[in-house]
Amino acid sequence: MQSVFYFFLWLLVFGQCHISSVEVDSSGEAHAYEETHTYEEEEEMAELRPVAVVIKNPRSSWIDYYWQNPESNELLYQGKIDPRGTSATSSYAGHVFVFAPAKKGPEKEFARVHVTEEKNLYILPLEEDNSNENDIKYYQQLLEEQRFVEDYRKRTGRPTHHVSSNEYFWKCIPENSQDPSAIEKCRDTQPVSFALEALSTEPKVFRINNGRLKKKKKGEKNLFFKKKQALSDFEADLVISLAKPKIKRSLAGTHGGLVSNTRTSRNTWLDRNEHLVMETLYRRAADILNISESVLYPDKNVEQLQVVNYQVGQEYTSHHDFGADGHPQQRMITLLFYLNNQTAPDAGGETAFPKAKNGYLKVHAGKGNAVLFYSMLEDGNADDLSLHAALPVKKGEKWIGMLFFFFYFTKR
Ligand SMILES: *[C@@H]1O[C@H](CO)[C@@H](O)[C@H](O)[C@H]1NC(C)=O
Ligand SMILES: *[C@@H]1O[C@H](CO)[C@@H](O)[C@H](O)[C@H]1NC(C)=O
Repeated sequence: MQSVFYFFLWLLVFGQCHISSVEVDSSGEAHAYEETHTYEEEEEMAELRPVAVVIKNPRSSWIDYYWQNPESNELLYQGKIDPRGTSATSSYAGHVFVFAPAKKGPEKEFARVHVTEEKNLYILPLEEDNSNENDIKYYQQLLEEQRFVEDYRKRTGRPTHHVSSNEYFWKCIPENSQDPSAIEKCRDTQPVSFALEALSTEPKVFRINNGRLKKKKKGEKNLFFKKKQALSDFEADLVISLAKPKIKRSLAGTHGGLVSNTRTSRNTWLDRNEHLVMETLYRRAADILNISESVLYPDKNVEQLQVVNYQVGQEYTSHHDFGADGHPQQRMITLLFYLNNQTAPDAGGETAFPKAKNGYLKVHAGKGNAVLFYSMLEDGNADDLSLHAALPVKKGEKWIGMLFFFFYFTKR
């Protein structure tokens, strides 16, 4: 995966009439480009500085939000945000969003966000007269999260990530997989957009909250993202149905051969070639990681998708994903898709990172969404802090699909 990790860092230097781009490749070499632009060109570019925005509603009630068209100042309804919910939207520096209690109309605005390049996470205010202790506690947690994100950005210069994929959602199985028009009927036509939200920096853990490009409406200049999943419901269900007939008691241990009490789930592996939809899933994973899909084969840099089912009481106690046998072929990155929802907030089955520096981390990303974490450090050492557990399921069941990415080409 040599030429794999490219970071494009765009620096807009105000006051001076140039824009530099810096490209750092995996050898650590940085290439800087400088270009001179006219004022008009710069204005134009400034207008198009995209920002992945995450907005959190601390209130225990629904809210509506509106986007202000910069040309007409008209407020356009964008959608609702659940009580204590999050909305991820793709925007541009300079854009304005207006927030009001649900169904009350924009006149009842209680907050307004002016999008800037320096900020990705916006926490809306609580009701002024809200003295509910739980609400206040929740609000303070959100502010704490915001401080973490801002501090991370200050230290690293990096915001939360935003990427997209043209591996469109599947909605059904085409009657004839050779027939492009049959395929077309079963696929969405909008790119899938991903916002990578940093949950922890030590270990590196991200939640992939997703958005989908909405169709451009007449008169609208830009495209907007609508909150959606990394896998469509159809795709998540299909992965489960492909796995069900093959699933067996999971094994654990260095040689992967032990029936063990630390791992009480059942699992199986699905090949990329197993189904058209699997091909899409691998290609979308490649887009999420910004790596070439051509390395995502078992004789190269990834294992087959491992699908795991946990029933009530089943768990996988704390473990690392990297191997313990000293070989350089280590699992470097884990991409974990959640294939169904928790049946209740207390249904268990979250993925926990007990050693996370920022405090014990517990996450269930929800159906179709994913968590991405690194098991290796930049220097090639394994990251001890990446220790994680699948907490016992208390209600319902849990289905996940995992892709393990290897740093070195490996024969497995
Ligand atoms: C990685 O991202 C850059 C910038 O968006 C893009 O130009 C490049 O094609 C991507 N590479 C892969 C392998 O997806
Ligand atoms: C899963 O949970 C999310 C978030 O609560 C919800 O939007 C979605 O509709 C649920 N999906 C299903 C299939 O129940």
